[in-house]
Amino acid sequence: MRKTRSRITVNERNGGFRIDTAHTTYIMTIKDGLYLGHFYYGGRLPEEDGMSYKEAFAPSMSPVETKREMVIFQDGFQFEYPGWGTGDSREGAIRAKDPLGTTRVNLLYQAYRISSSKALIPGLPSTFSSEGEGEMLEIDLKDPDTGLLVTLRYSPWEECDVIARSVVVRNESKDTFDLEKVLSLVLDMPGKDMSGRPFELMTFQGTWAREFTRDVRGIGYGITGVSSVCGKTGSRCQSFLGLVSPGITQNSGEVYGIQLLYSGNFRSAVEKTPYDDIRVSTGIHPEGFSWKLAPGEVFYAPEAVMTYSDQGLGRMSRNFHDLYRKHLIRGKYRNARRPILINNWEATYFDFDTDKLLAIAGKANECGIEMLVVDDGWFGKRNDDNTSLGDWTVNEEKLPGGLRRLGTELKKMGMKFGLWVEPEMVSPDSDLFRAHPDWAIAIPGREPALSRNQLVLDISREDVRDYLVGVLTKVFEEAGVDYVKWDMNRHLSDLYSAALPAERQGELLHRFVLGVYDLQERILTAFPDLLLENCSSGGSRFDPGMLYYSPQIWTSDDTDAYERIRIQEGAATLYPLSSMGAHVSICPNHVTGRTVPFMTRGHVALAGTFGYELDITAIPEEEHRMIRRQVELFHKYNDLVREGDYYRMDSVRDNGFLDCYGVVSKDRSEMLLTVIFVMNRPCTPNRRIHIRGLDPEKKYRVSLISDSTEKEPANDSAEEPVNDSEPVCIAHGATLGRSGLLISCRYGDFQSLLFHITEVNE
Ligand code: GLA
Repeated sequence: MRKTRSRITVNERNGGFRIDTAHTTYIMTIKDGLYLGHFYYGGRLPEEDGMSYKEAFAPSMSPVETKREMVIFQDGFQFEYPGWGTGDSREGAIRAKDPLGTTRVNLLYQAYRISSSKALIPGLPSTFSSEGEGEMLEIDLKDPDTGLLVTLRYSPWEECDVIARSVVVRNESKDTFDLEKVLSLVLDMPGKDMSGRPFELMTFQGTWAREFTRDVRGIGYGITGVSSVCGKTGSRCQSFLGLVSPGITQNSGEVYGIQLLYSGNFRSAVEKTPYDDIRVSTGIHPEGFSWKLAPGEVFYAPEAVMTYSDQGLGRMSRNFHDLYRKHLIRGKYRNARRPILINNWEATYFDFDTDKLLAIAGKANECGIEMLVVDDGWFGKRNDDNTSLGDWTVNEEKLPGGLRRLGTELKKMGMKFGLWVEPEMVSPDSDLFRAHPDWAIAIPGREPALSRNQLVLDISREDVRDYLVGVLTKVFEEAGVDYVKWDMNRHLSDLYSAALPAERQGELLHRFVLGVYDLQERILTAFPDLLLENCSSGGSRFDPGMLYYSPQIWTSDDTDAYERIRIQEGAATLYPLSSMGAHVSICPNHVTGRTVPFMTRGHVALAGTFGYELDITAIPEEEHRMIRRQVELFHKYNDLVREGDYYRMDSVRDNGFLDCYGVVSKDRSEMLLTVIFVMNRPCTPNRRIHIRGLDPEKKYRVSLISDSTEKEPANDSAEEPVNDSEPVCIAHGATLGRSGLLISCRYGDFQSLLFHITEVNE
């Protein structure tokens, strides 16, 4: 038995591999020296039991002994990474067309390797190790007939209870193959949880301004799942798959959570067999995908990550949060407080000039806001959304003296400067399009579909990317920008790249995604201190792939605090609060027409990156005072929100009237608890909130620090500390968890409270 540290174990005699994380175990075995099977994934098993599973496959047909029944074996075996066309009736993980025109891939076990560090994936986002953490198991499977070599990679992130997986395909033959499908992860597993209840499938669906809506459905026989074919992740669904126990809660039930670190077309599916097993899979969507693999060439499939919790959804969320914060998000702002910004989009839309922007910045600065972000409309002739994308030169009519002057004025005030761009796009009415019509993705001689009157640039092309890096570098340098909001506002359609031969057109979609990654990587290399926020018509490209490039992503164009409670609950199921772009905006809200109290809008936005999106020069003085107060709350509690563990106590999605969540520090010494009375429910005098996440042994003081119904203190000095008020109660974590905190429900619609819970050291 060979062991590396405590995480990867290999049993050479039996032919098995075991991977452990703090609370989970994953086991693969090799059948008859040929077929790599998946045996177990779930809660951690005792060390001594974990590797004696050769016999466990004994009852199933041996393909070696009875060649007569190969198909039955193929059909029922739990494959680790199934081939295609070999007799298995389920969907395969890979399909490759050879010179004969056949697509069979028969993958047999060949070898394994263990390395002491995790490899990155060239050109693609991936989890990474720092300071000696991370190891990697590689298992080679080979098709002896064609020479295709498939390497499966596994890296455990022990403390996060996550295993990262990816797939590398090498062409070791003399022929060129057309890869038609290469999935990143397959998990053949029982279709029921430990209590024998059939798993349900949890996904997130949505659309513009309604992202991250949770959906749970039963898993019927056949195939069910989520996918994107629009060229980006899209707001229609996350690539996330959750296999959950029926009635899963935050604290109980089993969940297998799987995510794909990819920002293009994907397919995440579950196939239920007549034997009540399921085949779970995720990867690049095979629809419209093909990739020519010449002899000696390598194809890297994107990374997928999976976690398991037998303690409900909350544990899964915290596992993903820790993984993304520690092993995916990079750069200067990874662990740092982000500047509080004010964005002019909802304040002015396209109608602004330097004076207006400086007036907003001036007032914002007085209130403690730290950065002005100039949104769409600063370039070309862009006074509406019909023109000028691609012409990244400042509109001097609006901004005389250019971005340099604006940047200089902002710096004089001590404000940072942020800028909106949408580099992947081109307007037909632009100098760029007139000069390079073939740079747009469109089929020659056919009219392409416009969306927001714009086309997509073919950034699969290196020359187009070089051009964009050049113009963006010039603009960012000239303006001295500290922050960039990188937008992407349409789907891909009319697929054709003027730079690819006919037989490679199927590579365009994936090459486009690689182009996005390459562009952002090059910009970040040139501007290592830049804070990048990705955005795509709101949260339409909010995925773990983009988090590798930007520590925060705009969650939704819907800034209505009521809607945001639900959207942010959905986003926080998968992503750390530090990554969710959240702003206070004006009421009645521009998307919903709803009015929510100003302090509640602040309390809701404080659960994300925090900022403003309103005309601060046109709101009453009372609201300026509230902004100062919210800014103080941000400075006092953002470290906790960004770095702590997220616990959801109550959800308006479930109960219809009240929402409650908290963030507790890793050392369990303090928690920020947010309670929002969404809809007043008649005859509901109070609500008992069971506070999770505290140390049962520790004694805590619960203080109400902000109440949306009270006039917040007229505190004109942003430096003045926010003092915790008189304690609401003092009790142990065990008491606050079991007996709970009794909250009066005398509050009206959309009122909210913030509590600070701190350890009492006696
Ligand atoms: C998208 C974004 C918005 C805003 C506009 C500007 O819709 O999601 O936040 O930047 O583009 O055109």
